[in-house]
Amino acid sequence: MSKKILVLPGDGIGPEIVAEAIKVLDTLRAEYGLEVEVEEALVGGAAIDATGSPLPEETLALAREADAVLLGAVGGPKWARLDISVRPEKGLLGLRSGLELFANLRPALLYPQLVEASTLKPDVVSGLDIMIVRELTGGIYFGEPRGIRKLEGGEKEGFNTLVYRESEIERIARVAFDIAAKREGRLCSVDKANVLEATELWREVVTRVGKEYAGVELSHMYVDNAAMQLVREPKQFDVLVTTNMFGDILSDCAAMLTGSIGMLPSASLGEGGKGMYEPIHGSAPDIAGQGTANPLATILSLSMLLRYSLGEPAMAARIDQAVDQVLDDGLRTPDIWSEGTTRVGTDSIGDAVVVALRYV
Ligand code: NAD
Ligand code: IPM
Ligand code: MN
Repeated sequence: MSKKILVLPGDGIGPEIVAEAIKVLDTLRAEYGLEVEVEEALVGGAAIDATGSPLPEETLALAREADAVLLGAVGGPKWARLDISVRPEKGLLGLRSGLELFANLRPALLYPQLVEASTLKPDVVSGLDIMIVRELTGGIYFGEPRGIRKLEGGEKEGFNTLVYRESEIERIARVAFDIAAKREGRLCSVDKANVLEATELWREVVTRVGKEYAGVELSHMYVDNAAMQLVREPKQFDVLVTTNMFGDILSDCAAMLTGSIGMLPSASLGEGGKGMYEPIHGSAPDIAGQGTANPLATILSLSMLLRYSLGEPAMAARIDQAVDQVLDDGLRTPDIWSEGTTRVGTDSIGDAVVVALRYV
């Protein structure tokens, strides 16, 4: 039986970048024998406009049936004033929690061709290859109680809860240790254990799990220092593991080391093989509709999808090589453009990846 992919373009640049990944997917199906069923559905603002909900039941049901989900991005100013419980972002969070995708892998890899695109000095970033493992279904994003309440006297107070159970920490720690064991064997756990009890427990549990991984060298770092170290000397890191919110922030920071946030793919995984794959960036309302967004993070997310959920490592490698080739050819969207390279639009990058697929 062929596998199923659910495609969720979403909002802003979402549909533009997903269209390029679909070109790549269609080429693999038509020319390389990839057998997969592809369906499309609504999520985020697009779903709110059509159905009133950022995650229609039909979309969640299709996502549950699928072997993998490919998502563009959600959100935008049009929906930013809605109640937080029904904003586009809730659609994404609902998919993550509904599918129990607790492990978010965000690889920050600098393609040597883009060393000039990074805002950091070449010697700081060249050869960079970091894996950020972000906890994705817990922490302050999902903790209760949460809300905005009126105090006596009328002043309002907003509150959220940072909460982690031992089992939640343990399972994300294991994912990170397993990944580190297959890489350079160095894992840095990032927390704020000097101030926050929930991450004091985080540190304790990660340390305990680490006893089972003799081949992995475990270190701990406070998140403020980690943010600083990421721009000071990023190559000191191999694998980072951290909480939902810290991982969100640190991965945007790591993205800039690679030249642009438009380069960073991600995989969100649960206990089974199912996963959701998306670029780490958002819907980029400031450039939506201009045809200039970088589709490579989405195309590389498709590569991760083929590798982790569809069991097609050769197809994934073909995509990775094609992306490498397009960068070798000097084609760049504006976010990664530098002197001596050719500035092109979103669709030209997708077309070039499709052409490169055929000769890599
Ligand atoms: P953003 O990531 O959308 O954009 C930040 C900056 O990066 C912008 O200047 C944008 O133009 C640029 N950028 C992002 N992706 C790019 C690409 N592929 N190519 C070139 N440039 C790119 O973050 P934001 O502006 O803070 O958020 C905009 C909306 O996206 C918000 O509604 C936010 O909630 C949402 N968001 C969604 C996701 C997601 O769906 N996974 C992730 C982050 C933010
Ligand atoms: C991300 C995004 C999301 C997050 C938002 C849109 C809910 O910023 O995937 O990095 O905070 O997780
Ligand atoms: Mn983010």
